[in-house]
Amino acid sequence: MSVIPLPPTDVAGETDAHPNLEVRRVRFVWDGVEVSWLPSDRIAGQVVNVIHLALPPGERWFVDTYRRALPLVADERLRREMKAFMGQEAVHARSHAGFVEHMDAAGYETAPLVAMIDDIVARWSRLGRRVLGEARTLRMELAVIAGIEHYTAVLGEWALRTDLLDAADPRLADVLRWHGAEELEHKCVAFDVHLAVSGSYVGRVLGYAIASAELARFWDRATGHLVARDPHLSSWRYRLAVVRSFLRGTLPGRELIGSLLGYLRPGFHPAERSTLGLTRAYLASSPAVADLAERSA
Ligand SMILES: [Fe+2]
Ligand SMILES: [Fe+2]
Repeated sequence: MSVIPLPPTDVAGETDAHPNLEVRRVRFVWDGVEVSWLPSDRIAGQVVNVIHLALPPGERWFVDTYRRALPLVADERLRREMKAFMGQEAVHARSHAGFVEHMDAAGYETAPLVAMIDDIVARWSRLGRRVLGEARTLRMELAVIAGIEHYTAVLGEWALRTDLLDAADPRLADVLRWHGAEELEHKCVAFDVHLAVSGSYVGRVLGYAIASAELARFWDRATGHLVARDPHLSSWRYRLAVVRSFLRGTLPGRELIGSLLGYLRPGFHPAERSTLGLTRAYLASSPAVADLAERSA
């Protein structure tokens, strides 16, 4: 069942390739929100919670890398899109960091996981500089970011279409769906930056492979960490329970495989899948975006 009504079929003056990117400085308040939010499948809820941990340090790295990449991009429209991308990612990082503080207050001790992302970034940067040199390392980082952005676009669309998040506090559902909508809105930027500075197919696949391996490793470690601190769960054989959630369909899996593998097609471009109507429909109904409009009026 789709969570939101049928999206409008045409969006005036915009395309999936070049939508109007807007930095929405939304705010969230987390008092009273249950961290272990899915009573029917608490393990699945904690797997989704890993998103909050990965994003703040990851998206700060995106912004830092794009600052270094801006001088390499001559196209004015792409430069504008990069700046909007950086603005959106900075607000995403701040919004999820607020929830991470809320998790810490509930005893989840997230610091080692946030540090793990910083370590992964530092390790690959060090290795790249030693083996490839400064300029090619930056191109590799941009290819990895393009790969991660494919994941965030696919998961963003899932967040907008799934009814699983209806079980969460409306604020928790909104932060994931608002973020998902903005990921879909700027889904072409990282890919176009990769095309502009390198365009190498091998580099793109390599970047995607690195992104996939590190995301899988982080998700496994972080899920174990959260499960061990969830008073409702036992960490005994938690991986088996996660697999069961995938098989049961509580977690997204099989339905995303086609979209995830599609990235490997040589002629792939994120704009080939039309999601702008879905994005605009959610942003028009997001409580956080409505609150922002009220504060700005
Ligand atoms: Fe983001
Ligand atoms: Fe993004």
